[in-house]
Amino acid sequence: MWVEEEIAEANEEQIAKAAELIRKGEVVAFPTETVYGLGANTFDERAVRKIFSLKGRPLDNPLIVHISKKEDLPLIAVDIPEQAYKLIDSFWPGPLTIVLKKNLTVPDIVTAGLDSVAVRMPSHKVALKLIDLAGVPIAAPSANPAGKPSATKAEHIRHYFGDKVFVLEGKIKIGIESTVVDLTSPLEPLLLRPGMIEPKAIEKVIGKRLVHCTGSERPKSPGLKYQHYSPNAELIVASKEKLFSAIEKMREERLSQNIVVVVFGDQERALRVKEKFGLDTISAGRTLEEVARNLFDILITFGEKYDVIIFESVEEEGVGLGIMNRLKKAAKQIID
Ligand code: TXA
Ligand code: MG
Repeated sequence: MWVEEEIAEANEEQIAKAAELIRKGEVVAFPTETVYGLGANTFDERAVRKIFSLKGRPLDNPLIVHISKKEDLPLIAVDIPEQAYKLIDSFWPGPLTIVLKKNLTVPDIVTAGLDSVAVRMPSHKVALKLIDLAGVPIAAPSANPAGKPSATKAEHIRHYFGDKVFVLEGKIKIGIESTVVDLTSPLEPLLLRPGMIEPKAIEKVIGKRLVHCTGSERPKSPGLKYQHYSPNAELIVASKEKLFSAIEKMREERLSQNIVVVVFGDQERALRVKEKFGLDTISAGRTLEEVARNLFDILITFGEKYDVIIFESVEEEGVGLGIMNRLKKAAKQIID
């Protein structure tokens, strides 16, 4: 089983230091309940520009603005529809990002010139404290170089950015990024990215079906058109039914390469696969929640150690929708 270590949480003094850096126009990496963010003062254009250059992020891909109090929403968005307030009451603080009409005080660099803005109130204590102490909303994308798996540990940030960014420690509970819902046309609410909060739960609250726009065909969300989450190894995603034949094939074709198999299920299942094929095998988790939490850590860590990662699919239901969305975007090949 993928081992989850104990992780220390940043103390008040460290959070205060990070907040000071944000106020001075610097960029800091901070934990949220979903993944690490790379944050700067939303209203400081120069500071936000640094995020784009650190990540190598295209300027047409907008950022999420993070607030620590629901009351701060009007600083960021205007014409907020009733449905948004319902979602906020049900899911904030938490892993739900809502796209709304933007308040013109938000610099264009944050929203990539769009007239909408993505907003979220995270539930992680370190993130909330940081935003509070900084005294400004924090614009932050996931803390990874563009196209790479999102960071879920402080060590991932150091791996990606060395000592170029100050990092706050904290445990990530969810592991995949927030669910993104677009309410700029309340008659046709859109799901732009699946996450831990499931479409069904959102539909129940707003009393409307969500139109799913999560693929890369005709993107509604600028981020959808880019290569995503690619580990430094060839990632093959195989369905449960095709897993064994995919392993056989890769083992025959890639004689000189290091292959690792990542399965879904308990330790015994991983052991059986390991014995059958003689390849390193590990379970990503026994539940979908565990797989979500370990996903990016596995992609980053195994991306360095192996040439090929064969990852077993999970069912595209509930949280599985979010997991498969990331795996499919990261994969070189999907076998199902
Ligand atoms: O869980 C999360 O959401 C994490 C943590 C740090 O909060 N953040 C995150 O940010 O995943 P990022 O930048 O990696 O993903 C934000 C996504 C991108 O696909 C972006 O294109 C989309 O949200 N987005 C941002 N503003 C938007 C807007 N105004 N309209 C449509 N999509 C937008
Ligand atoms: Mg990202």
